[in-house]
Amino acid sequence: MTVDDHSIWGDETATVKLATDWAARRLVRETDPQSTARSASELAAAAGPTITATGIGADAALEVFDRVLEPATRAQDDPLNLAYIAAAPTRAAIAFDLVTSAANIFGGLWEAGAGAIYAENEALAWIVGLLGWPEGAGGCFVSGGTSGNLSALMTARETAKSRRGGRPAGGWQLACTANAHSSIRSAAKALDVEVVEVPMDARGHLTGAALRTVLEHSPDVFAVVASAGTTNEGLVDDLAEVAAVAHEFGVWLHVDGAYGGAGLAAPSVRALFDGIEQADSFIVDPHKWLFAPYDCCALLYRDPALARATHSQHANYLDHVDRESWNPSELALHLSRRARGLPLWFSLATHGTDRYRDAIEASLETSRAVAAAIRASDHLRLVREPELSVVVFDRPGWQPADYEAWSHATAVEGTMLCVPTTLDGETVLRLAFVNPATDAARVIEILDTLR
Ligand SMILES: Cc1ncc(COP(=O)(O)O)c(C=O)c1O
Repeated sequence: MTVDDHSIWGDETATVKLATDWAARRLVRETDPQSTARSASELAAAAGPTITATGIGADAALEVFDRVLEPATRAQDDPLNLAYIAAAPTRAAIAFDLVTSAANIFGGLWEAGAGAIYAENEALAWIVGLLGWPEGAGGCFVSGGTSGNLSALMTARETAKSRRGGRPAGGWQLACTANAHSSIRSAAKALDVEVVEVPMDARGHLTGAALRTVLEHSPDVFAVVASAGTTNEGLVDDLAEVAAVAHEFGVWLHVDGAYGGAGLAAPSVRALFDGIEQADSFIVDPHKWLFAPYDCCALLYRDPALARATHSQHANYLDHVDRESWNPSELALHLSRRARGLPLWFSLATHGTDRYRDAIEASLETSRAVAAAIRASDHLRLVREPELSVVVFDRPGWQPADYEAWSHATAVEGTMLCVPTTLDGETVLRLAFVNPATDAARVIEILDTLR
């Protein structure tokens, strides 16, 4: 059957062309970092009714999307979008996201998605190589760091349950620092486990010594979460020490590298990750700093059999599933899944891993150049030396309202997106560099407006 002979949907050929032409135009369009959210009532007024009994038709729907809806979204790929953690997918990755959708692959089971899963596993194997993990390690792609962290910690908890003979009387505990990403606390809530906070060193790292003190008094800790790139500051915990202590106490080490894990591919910062080869599970979001579109998290296990024992779903209609095959649905908290790793695979295959290394190094160089300019300036203060590509600084003399006003004005003008955050209770500014197209000189020029 072709798109033009369906008795229900009619001829969709022109609709397909309309949508794919729009996508092709967007891929080569200039963006700007304007903050463009509008209220739902404004959007309703501008868009008019779109869901009707007979449909408004593809032309009208795309017109609304183009004129009203898409302009009310933030361009994550703009080189001057330095707020939160943006995303800078390669054109190859985005184009292949369209291909992935068009191929409409069920990526949960090998029997349905073998070719796609094979390619996803090639991309995962590159990351396993960067981690220095042994043969047999592997995982799957899930929607984001939040679900990756949850799936990994669920595996850790189930593993502890079977190794230690059931749930402790007082329940399980999870150890991390206050700098661990908020999704770790969400995972703890979902798993109904208590979070034990490990005190940080002066700079905000998790260290082996502090972890030891906690584990000596907390026998029910089943996992420790270390950060390989905290979101607020880009700090990498002391992974080697933490791994040694965690394993001495029989505790699972999960490393959250959702943002910073990309640094594994960058020789200039690789040493920060030493010890990661000992971790039991790891996540990195290719939609953050590995140039893939949303939504994509690589979730990896040193021993995937433990994930399988945790996540395999069993039901009458699933009885015939070949459990010997590599089934991504058995490695995380999901069943149906799109083959969301394919855009990363295609981009890696197209550009090669050397270019990925260079692109990550480019963001690191940009962050170093901006940090150096801030250090040398007479009106700004570098609050911390950056470890990866997040630069945190302040404008001595300014109050929170001044930061808000400047951030808002630059966003509305479309000059740059840079939002305030807090560090040790103080309001500061934060720039997160993940786009190799960001021009350090332009950023430095804009920072002059903070005078
Ligand atoms: C360190 C870290 N972990 C986890 C997450 C959550 O990832 P996601 O937004 O993909 O769910 C983030 C998001 O910024 C992060 O920076």
